[in-house]
Amino acid sequence: MNVLRLQRISLRFGGVRALDDLSFTVEPGTVHALIGPNGAGKSSCFNVISGHYHPDDGSVSFGDEDITQLSPHQIARRGVGRAFQNIALSAHETVLDNLMVARHRLTRSGFVATSLGLPRVRHEERRHRERVMEIARFVGLGEKFDRPAGALAYGDRKRVELARALSSEPELLLLDEPAAGMPTHEKWEIAHLVVSVRDALGISVLLVEHDMPMVMAIADRVTVLDFGRRIADGTPTEVQRSPEVIAAYLGSSPGPEEPENAAARRTRSETS
Ligand SMILES: Nc1ncnc2c1ncn2[C@@H]1O[C@H](COP(=O)(O)OP(=O)(O)OP(=O)(O)O)[C@@H](O)[C@H]1O
Ligand SMILES: [Mg+2]
Repeated sequence: MNVLRLQRISLRFGGVRALDDLSFTVEPGTVHALIGPNGAGKSSCFNVISGHYHPDDGSVSFGDEDITQLSPHQIARRGVGRAFQNIALSAHETVLDNLMVARHRLTRSGFVATSLGLPRVRHEERRHRERVMEIARFVGLGEKFDRPAGALAYGDRKRVELARALSSEPELLLLDEPAAGMPTHEKWEIAHLVVSVRDALGISVLLVEHDMPMVMAIADRVTVLDFGRRIADGTPTEVQRSPEVIAAYLGSSPGPEEPENAAARRTRSETS
């Protein structure tokens, strides 16, 4: 199992420092949360890890390999999967087809051989279909394989996005706000799902999530960003006590209120 290591990453957009000398490590077998106020640089960080952006400085390694300059496709093939903050599904295609697209990137045959219908390929295709159906059930989509992705309720589309990332059989999964916009009970279903991705599938998860009670309940480790800089890194309990974190979420000291409640309140008001 590979460690993901970001070392001294900087990323600029014109005058904006989206990431500023950022370092942290995601250990195998953990749920690692990446949190911070809106605009802190969380999605930019995901874009650097997944190869959609190349940083101005610093390096990203996965296991022994430096992946900083690799393409998104190459990084996916090395076992880093990603679900996007904004759902990026093909609305007219079925759930199954959306998942199979992610799968085809892994197959040796590819689309051409598949469309020729060679027996070996047909067999491989069937195996992949069975596997993505298993994944769809795992994320709670039940038997909705044949429905067009666009016809599903919002929460189910978020699940398809997650299932699609899982369909590439990653070793590390990047989840950007998988429970955003969901009612509380559904958020907790996603929280349980993230934990079972780690425990049942043995996949490490790097999680961006604004819901603080959820982060604190399920993360093994938390890295906190503010203005692209790392302002805290540790266990949930450690970061909740950090004065820098409290200040970043409140814009001032927390006063008599418990820090975790204060952080959660600020986050809710931001995302509502
Ligand atoms: N493609 C881009 N071009 C210009 N500026 C960008 C681009 N992407 C991000 N930024 C800027 O970089 C900073 C970090 O943005 P980013 O989207 O990474 O934040 P975030 O932590 O994911 O925020 P949110 O919680 O709102 O999703 C912001 O100031 C944003 O405006
Ligand atoms: Mg974001």
